[in-house]
Amino acid sequence: MIQVAKTAGFCFGVNRAVETVYKLLHEGKRVCTLGPIIHNPQLVESLRRQGVRIISAPEEAEVGETVVIRSHGVPPEITERLERRNIPYVDATCPFVMKIHRLVSEGSAAGRRIMLAGDAGHPEVEGILGCCKGPYSTFLTADALEKMFQNDPELAKTPLLFCQQTTFNVEEWEKCLFFIKKVCTNASVFDTICNATANRQQEAKTLSAESDLMIVVGGRHSSNTAKLRDVCAASCETYLIETADELKALPIAGRRKIGITAGASTPASIIKEVLVTMTEINETNELNFEEMLEESL
Ligand code: F3S
Repeated sequence: MIQVAKTAGFCFGVNRAVETVYKLLHEGKRVCTLGPIIHNPQLVESLRRQGVRIISAPEEAEVGETVVIRSHGVPPEITERLERRNIPYVDATCPFVMKIHRLVSEGSAAGRRIMLAGDAGHPEVEGILGCCKGPYSTFLTADALEKMFQNDPELAKTPLLFCQQTTFNVEEWEKCLFFIKKVCTNASVFDTICNATANRQQEAKTLSAESDLMIVVGGRHSSNTAKLRDVCAASCETYLIETADELKALPIAGRRKIGITAGASTPASIIKEVLVTMTEINETNELNFEEMLEESL
């Protein structure tokens, strides 16, 4: 049996960003995106064939182009640089990320040190940290957070503001929260993990606990896809793939229950292709099994 998670695929914010690019193309605009619009090489390649360029800095945008800012968001200084050059842009930052920008900007302006649970090298985190008007720290695990407080005992009394990268692991955050409640005396704590992520991770956890094998479909550079893989791998054998072609090399034969989930930047068309290919492989397996039975009689 093959079961596809209901929450697999594009989330609201990613869908909105991709739709923004298509809408501009439809209007006849020349479009470039600040970084790949989503972590899906197949969709990015399809957009490239339609003329969408990827740039890595505002200065690379050409006159006549419209820049799209992806759902991860950017630090405010990036949009300031676009405005200084008079380059038109459409900000497709996910509203849930925007909310963190506001919290961080207001909290740090009010004198709170920003404590962000997230990956310092991730573009969403870079965008959030760009809104800080004072000191900040990032941490990836409850252990790392605890060490930070051990190294600086004054931190527990400092005015702090805690929030999380939208795709942060829910269980790891719960461990962090347990520690924060025990130690901090002046902390504002906000839950900024996106529901789409939390629901997807929860469903992946349930589905992987019921499956022999899990297939996670998504870009290898996508952090939410990597987290889904980690969640599933805790319960059963798990493989991360980008396209249906990769299924051929996987030990799918003989598995009774296979679950499929997909990251937030995986188009529905790729999930469908994976499902169709897996169904074909499974049918072939059943056929071979019957043939083997006949031969042994
Ligand atoms: Fe937005 Fe949540 Fe998606 S923050 S981009 S809806 S994962």
